[in-house]
Amino acid sequence: MKIILLGYMGVGKTSLSKKLSKKSGIPCFDLDEIIEKSENSSISSIFKDRGEVYFRKIEHQLFKDFIEKEENFILSLGGGTPCYANNHLLLQNEGVVSIYLKASIDNLTAKLKDKRAKRPLIKNLSEDELHEYIAKHLFDRNYYYQKSKFTVVVNGKSKKEIVKEILQLI
Ligand code: S3P
Repeated sequence: MKIILLGYMGVGKTSLSKKLSKKSGIPCFDLDEIIEKSENSSISSIFKDRGEVYFRKIEHQLFKDFIEKEENFILSLGGGTPCYANNHLLLQNEGVVSIYLKASIDNLTAKLKDKRAKRPLIKNLSEDELHEYIAKHLFDRNYYYQKSKFTVVVNGKSKKEIVKEILQLI
């Protein structure tokens, strides 16, 4: 089974994929980690040294290669992955179960405010700017996120509850 977890930064894609992996026995992978290994560099350094366009190109290539090659996996994407290079079309591939983890703007702002440093897109924003940035960004990205096969709303739910909900879908 090919399970893809997507959603905005800070929604918990990586930690939920680990929990889901433990429960289901399906191995989990993280696209940001795959990129970091392949480039031998952190996401922040790739953005700083090579720029976002370069990042989006390798993100697309590695995402495509991964889902074409692997058969049984849970893959957590980066928040922007579905929104570039037609990656959203891959979310509907035969055999792919794509799940959008949806959270409110307030929820995401609260989760991200202390985790800005490692995220190049938001690291220079003040706490006040963050809320407005997320609101606009989510509005832009929503179109792509909606291309996933399922949506799971995560607001106010424990990780355990979310994983249970995902297990019922797959
Ligand atoms: C990004 C999200 C990040 C990472 C990069 C760009 C985005 O992943 O891929 O910083 O465009 O939303 P997380 O969603 O895991 O933070």
